Amino acid sequence: MPLSLQNKKIIISAGASGIGWATAKVCLSKGAIVYLCDIDIKSLNKIKKHPLINKRLFAYKCDASDEYEVSNFFTQINKKIKKIDTLINNVGVSGPTGTIEKLDSKDWERTLKINVISHFYFTKLAIPMLKKNKGGSIINISSGAGIMGFPLRSPYAASKWAVIGVTKTLAMELGKFKIRVNAICPGTIKGNRMVRVIKDKAKFLKVSKKLVEKEFVSMASMNCWIYEEDIGKICSFLISSDGERISGQTIPVDGNATRLD
Ligand SMILES: NC(=O)c1ccc[n+]([C@@H]2O[C@H](COP(=O)([O-])OP(=O)(O)OC[C@H]3O[C@@H](n4cnc5c(N)ncnc54)[C@H](O)[C@@H]3O)[C@@H](O)[C@H]2O)c1
Repeated sequence: MPLSLQNKKIIISAGASGIGWATAKVCLSKGAIVYLCDIDIKSLNKIKKHPLINKRLFAYKCDASDEYEVSNFFTQINKKIKKIDTLINNVGVSGPTGTIEKLDSKDWERTLKINVISHFYFTKLAIPMLKKNKGGSIINISSGAGIMGFPLRSPYAASKWAVIGVTKTLAMELGKFKIRVNAICPGTIKGNRMVRVIKDKAKFLKVSKKLVEKEFVSMASMNCWIYEEDIGKICSFLISSDGERISGQTIPVDGNATRLD
């Protein structure tokens, strides 16, 4: 039987483009109802033309790193529903590129604020809705940088390791409520984010973008890019009843990345 997410209610942070939007589309294709938010009006406006908008797809403007805005986002959702099946904590920025001596404390703070503390804002408000649902799942998007060191990206690595720590802890706290908590670690994703990352790294190292790109792809044994939809597919598996006994896990989707450098 094909995997179904029929009428599963799913919240996705930073869902208007990239991995979040690809995941939203995979979930919608399997029958889910998606509530997403994003800071970017342009991407939200594009989504507002989707045929399922205000039917099974709801999109809101919200800065995930602002607790007040996140609380407002939940107030909007709570006008429609009281229970959810899944929260996907997808928001995360790449942070600055450079050796520690060259990095600014403001950039460190911003990276941790968006990549870790925002997840807290969403999780805190989602747990009562998951409890009302008598179970469900939280999926935290970490990174290969959450299981390996990542030279020149120390704040990003710190934030993504923190996401794993929170995941393991929450899985233990929430297991008795039948709420499963897992982290996904995407590898090098073909998309806009990597275009920016490659540009910054090439500039810092004073080498060509082509060389940096080749290096990134070669970090996976499978010598391949990972696609945004690959993350959507693993999310949909974890949300579905096929994943109902999986919790506390860190799941790389990275073509077997063996290094990040
Ligand atoms: N792209 C990759 O190669 C890669 C690899 C590993 C992990 N990840 C992780 O996957 C997640 C998604 O990555 P992506 O590549 O799709 O990101 P992205 O940079 O393409 O951005 C996705 C969305 O996040 C939104 N956003 C940024 N800051 C926000 C904020 N403060 N509030 C609300 N929305 C905000 C943007 O507007 C955008 O629509 C992140 O946590 C990222 O760290 C990405």
